Amino acid sequence: MLSVLAALLTLATAISAWPSTSSNSTGIKLQNGFERVYIQPFGNNGIRVRASLMRDPSGNELSALLDPPLEGPGGNQGLAYDQLIGYQGNASFQNGNLIVQVNLGVISFYRAETNGSLSLLTQEFTDDKALYSRYYVQEYKSPSFQAQFSFTSDADEQFYGMGQQACCKDTSVNKKGQSIDLINFNSFVPIPVYMSNKGYLQFFNMPSQGRMEFSPIRTRFISSEATAVDYWITTAEPGDYDTLQEQYTAVTGRQPTPPDFILGYQQSKLRYWNQTQVMDLAQEFHDRQVNVSMIVVDFFNWKYQGDWAFDPEYWSDPAEMASFVKNMTGAEMMVSLWPSVEDLSDNYIALQEQGLLATTRDGTGVTDSFAGVYTRLIDSTNPASREFLWKQLNESYFSKGIHNFWIDQADGGTLGEAWENNGQTINLIPYERASAQYFIGTQEGAGKMYPWLHQAAINEGLHNLTGQPITSASCDYMSLTRSTFAGGQRYCSYLWSGDTLSEFPVLLQQITSSVSVAASGISSWTLDIGGFTGLDIDTDYGKELFVRWFGMGVFLPYPWSYGEENFVIIKKYIDLRYQLVPYVRALFQQLQYSGRTIMRALYYDFSLSDPFVVQATSVNNPLVTQQYMFGPRLLVSPVGIQNATTKEVYLPRLTESMISQNFSWVHWWTDTDYGQGGNTVTVNAPLDEIPVFYLGSKSDIFSGSVF
Ligand SMILES: *[C@@H]1O[C@H](CO)[C@@H](O)[C@H](O)[C@H]1NC(C)=O
Ligand SMILES: *[C@@H]1O[C@H](CO)[C@@H](O)[C@H](O)[C@H]1NC(C)=O
Ligand SMILES: *[C@@H]1O[C@H](CO)[C@@H](O)[C@H](O)[C@H]1NC(C)=O
Ligand SMILES: *[C@@H]1O[C@H](CO)[C@@H](O)[C@H](O)[C@H]1NC(C)=O
Ligand SMILES: *[C@@H]1O[C@H](CO)[C@@H](O)[C@H](O)[C@H]1NC(C)=O
Ligand SMILES: *[C@@H]1O[C@H](CO)[C@@H](O)[C@H](O)[C@H]1NC(C)=O
Ligand SMILES: *[C@@H]1O[C@H](CO)[C@@H](O)[C@H](O)[C@H]1NC(C)=O
Ligand SMILES: *[C@@H]1O[C@H](CO)[C@@H](O)[C@H](O)[C@H]1NC(C)=O
Ligand SMILES: *[C@@H]1O[C@H](CO)[C@@H](O)[C@H](O)[C@H]1NC(C)=O
Ligand SMILES: *[C@@H]1O[C@H](CO)[C@@H](O)[C@H](O)[C@H]1NC(C)=O
Repeated sequence: MLSVLAALLTLATAISAWPSTSSNSTGIKLQNGFERVYIQPFGNNGIRVRASLMRDPSGNELSALLDPPLEGPGGNQGLAYDQLIGYQGNASFQNGNLIVQVNLGVISFYRAETNGSLSLLTQEFTDDKALYSRYYVQEYKSPSFQAQFSFTSDADEQFYGMGQQACCKDTSVNKKGQSIDLINFNSFVPIPVYMSNKGYLQFFNMPSQGRMEFSPIRTRFISSEATAVDYWITTAEPGDYDTLQEQYTAVTGRQPTPPDFILGYQQSKLRYWNQTQVMDLAQEFHDRQVNVSMIVVDFFNWKYQGDWAFDPEYWSDPAEMASFVKNMTGAEMMVSLWPSVEDLSDNYIALQEQGLLATTRDGTGVTDSFAGVYTRLIDSTNPASREFLWKQLNESYFSKGIHNFWIDQADGGTLGEAWENNGQTINLIPYERASAQYFIGTQEGAGKMYPWLHQAAINEGLHNLTGQPITSASCDYMSLTRSTFAGGQRYCSYLWSGDTLSEFPVLLQQITSSVSVAASGISSWTLDIGGFTGLDIDTDYGKELFVRWFGMGVFLPYPWSYGEENFVIIKKYIDLRYQLVPYVRALFQQLQYSGRTIMRALYYDFSLSDPFVVQATSVNNPLVTQQYMFGPRLLVSPVGIQNATTKEVYLPRLTESMISQNFSWVHWWTDTDYGQGGNTVTVNAPLDEIPVFYLGSKSDIFSGSVF
């Protein structure tokens, strides 16, 4: 009886919600001289726009969108439309609470409010004295063109996301005022997607190089090479960032839940040279009773770049090693692979003959050099290359019990070190990144998809071998990658922040980096604990930095240490991490289910309850932007200053809903209750007690009952 009632209620809710979750049009086509613009409903409260010159979009352009989307209308509709308009035409439709209006050929987006009024989100930027809002430059050598699309923006509007930035000691959460290059290299993974505090998210579904500009009155997307401009926009109530992420991940993909073993502690080092060393390490973890989830073997486990196999001189029996590690510690193993191939590798001739290497505009050429040899990249944008790569990885590693892969140097174009060639620094020479050409197109037009398809090779390979469908909501094994693109969250993969400097300010920079990449749909993220370059754990500075960084690592989606083993100091943190595994598992389940972001800048949860959070975020005040929520219950405020003994923590004002659950901010280590927030407090911050506050009961957190 009860269940019948529940079913009826569900039905009633569905019916009453019906008008707001559907679209009253299949789409608009604007035929404007040489230009064609298709505007279609896509996903819940979402609209997709595609624009091309001289010809219709083919519909087969490179895309990170799932078609059909996981949720909501549209999809599988090709270039359907029911409203055809011409120069200076007018048309409109709605999809859920998002309305598009074309007025005299100018496109505007509105949110339909529950009281019937319309709120303007953004519209094409028009001014008699400005570049057209949809501006194209075509050279007529090919059907492609450059494009610049401009939209209005309020002076006090805030923008969040844009992937992972590393430039210029960047510590911004609000990207307003910035100009962000769209090109990948080591640590720099820009993704052209952002959320506005006015309650919308906009995504440019194009893997081209270019630039995103957030100027005071105008937001501009610039693509160096396109055959169609393709963007998607969605809306939610202002402050409801979880709904924006839910809608965005319904069109670009949801993160499958990672395997349980990977939620613990991952040990890596530059580097373990041979299998004896790895087995000794496993023995030590065992003897000292420190839990470990994964032991990682870094680069040059191979003899020649492109072997995708252990050098047998140092790794004589990988199967025995993996089995020993498993027996001693229960840990899985991960191994590094690079995309580079040198001519001494056994695979070189086959790859060259079959045309499976990326080329350059000068002919076969080279794409980079490393360790004294010239290298070319495997062209992972070609399905045949992905199959070739996976075949080697299976033979060398997977079939021997090493199931997880570290996709290093995956940036594309070159090995991702644009400033270096064969050990020599290239500074201030107007040196373009390699003009790489791929199976799917040029570096300018398609380059940002290289790392994404390289990731896909491992993802496909693992699924093919384990027999798990590619759409499965969980992963048996994972890859770790240095680069990705929009939608990368649909793979059994996690991003790390690349090669970072081992310095306190960089530790702090990781916070804004992580919450920005998370706001771009990629919650599956980690970093090198301790940083990568320059860590010297024998100095006081190095030791202190490493332990401070380790404390933060406990409260990340995956704790991955790139340091020396230092069991005594870090054992307490590792043990705590294992206690938190049920909580982290719950965060990943929620991420899978609804795209709910794991590492949350404070604006996510507190912009409606605490005006100071909004104001401080707008100016990137570190008091607010260098803290984050790790899931719904933990506020983490890492210490990023040498010799600090205390930390000033801003406790945001709790929401009505939190207050109604009797939540208050409680200090993790002392259980002192600090009340309902809206104030700054100073807490003791010894090395082994990273400042953390929790909401609700610790037992709910330890059991993961938090949603
Ligand atoms: C579009 O609407 C405007 C009024 O907003 C009108 O002046 C114009 O003629 C309309 N255009 C067309 C093609 O009907
Ligand atoms: C769809 O709804 C919008 C917003 O309510 C309205 O302006 C538009 O005229 C409608 N379009 C069609 C094709 O019914
Ligand atoms: C309707 O709701 C919007 C959003 O809450 C608000 O800005 C607007 O003032 C309201 N309009 C009226 C007429 O109440
Ligand atoms: C393994 O590498 C370590 C570190 O370089 C070295 O000390 C050790 O002798 C090597 N062992 C073997 C068996 O090669
Ligand atoms: C690991 O344990 C299994 C089962 O106890 C055993 O068969 C195997 O020989 C062990 N492997 C190693 C390398 O110790
Ligand atoms: C996975 O299997 C499919 C179907 O057999 C094949 O087309 C694809 O190339 C395989 N992928 C890899 C990376 O081996
Ligand atoms: C993986 O490697 C194993 C061992 O060589 C082999 O039996 C199996 O067929 C390989 N699978 C694929 C898909 O290449
Ligand atoms: C190691 O992890 C297991 C769960 O995987 C847990 O039961 C055990 O208490 C942990 N040991 C330590 C020392 O934290
Ligand atoms: C931290 O303390 C050490 C040792 O007293 C000192 O050398 C160093 O300059 C201090 N660093 C800062 C940032 O105060
Ligand atoms: C919250 O606390 C108040 C007073 O301590 C108590 O009366 C109430 O039952 C509590 N509510 C919940 C949901 O725990």
